Amino acid sequence: NSTIRQLQKEFPPIKNNLILRACRGEPVEHVPIWIMRQAGRYLPEYLSLRSQHSFFDVCRTPALVCEVTLQPLRRFDLDAAIIFSDILVVPQALGMQVDMIAKEGPRFAHPLNVPADIKIRVDRTKQASVELKYVYDAITLTRHALNGQCPLIGFSGAPWTLMSYMVEGKGSETHSKAKKWLYTYIEESHDLLQFLTHFVIDHLIEQVCAGAQLLQLFESHCGCLNHDLFVRFSLPYLRQIAKGVRDGLTRRQIPYVPIIIFAKDAHYALDELCSSSFDVVGLDWSVTRKQIRTLREKYPTVTLQGNLDPCALYASQDDLEKMIKQMLEIFGTKSYIANLGHGIYPDANVDNVKHFIDTVHRISKDMIKS
Ligand code: CP3
Repeated sequence: NSTIRQLQKEFPPIKNNLILRACRGEPVEHVPIWIMRQAGRYLPEYLSLRSQHSFFDVCRTPALVCEVTLQPLRRFDLDAAIIFSDILVVPQALGMQVDMIAKEGPRFAHPLNVPADIKIRVDRTKQASVELKYVYDAITLTRHALNGQCPLIGFSGAPWTLMSYMVEGKGSETHSKAKKWLYTYIEESHDLLQFLTHFVIDHLIEQVCAGAQLLQLFESHCGCLNHDLFVRFSLPYLRQIAKGVRDGLTRRQIPYVPIIIFAKDAHYALDELCSSSFDVVGLDWSVTRKQIRTLREKYPTVTLQGNLDPCALYASQDDLEKMIKQMLEIFGTKSYIANLGHGIYPDANVDNVKHFIDTVHRISKDMIKS
């Protein structure tokens, strides 16, 4: 612990803290922007590195994580870096085998079919601080390498999203296998979600100890839930994580860092998310202008993030500029972090990504000045 604190003291001073100010609702010179999956396959330099190493080998090698995390920052004027990792490092840490299959996505060798599988497949004695040390080492290394250019974001998958992968064993349209648990193995589902919640809290706190300056929690699988299921099987655990991270950092005497909740497709629960003590609520690209205006009126102290359609990057630069202007007019320039409304696609045009970032900066700067 003292070594960590020693290291933290030696981190280079921050030059651009716009995104942290936006999280706190403080004035900014221009709207900060980062892009979900900003390190990834749309960058030729990422593809070139990936041709030499498997996906999870990159995740497990701090020097490679650092390189890949910094790649988009060399090209673009981004206001945050996000550590290169994956939400599925958590099930791996618990002893489950997960492989990344080219053109298909993640595959579990032995998913959880019935609750009895939990005992065999999930090792509850595992500790984040031990199993995921490679993530924390990568964060410390990257924070130093960033040299204060901008804050470094740490992240985790949320319990329901992790559980649904552990049960489905791969991506799914309906998540009906995982949802079946919520209707048939109710107690066992809560038990698994509760266990994952404690592990995720530890994982997030360890990332902050290692140098993460902002956190994002990904609840990616809300599209297959309805309001009732969300309120029972997702929301209580999200709230526990917000409180657990806050309390855990206080206990360790580590300064608080803001937390972003990105609950994809939870358009039916935006009120609950905005009143759950997260500092920032990320909105996916399907949230409407009307919903955004309502949120702004009802929750003026909650910072919002989002929500340009990732496919808008296929548009002409003139059309893109119009959409950016509209987005800035709806969200405003205060308590706002610009981003896409989901991860960037592998065929995104690099010049349009640059145009997106620079245009958000230019237009918001003009809006703030006038
Ligand atoms: O944002 C960043 O740049 C940081 C890195 C990051 C990755 N995955 C790298 C990655 C982050 C934050 C994630 C989160 C993640 N991973 C989520 C939540 C966000 C979301 O998309 O809803 C989910 C559901 C996963 C699980 C996952 N990892 C899937 C479904 C896939 C395959 C689908 C795909 O996009 O290909 C991955 C692979 C993955 N994670 C890649 C990257 C750059 C591509 C893999 C490759 O290089 O071959």
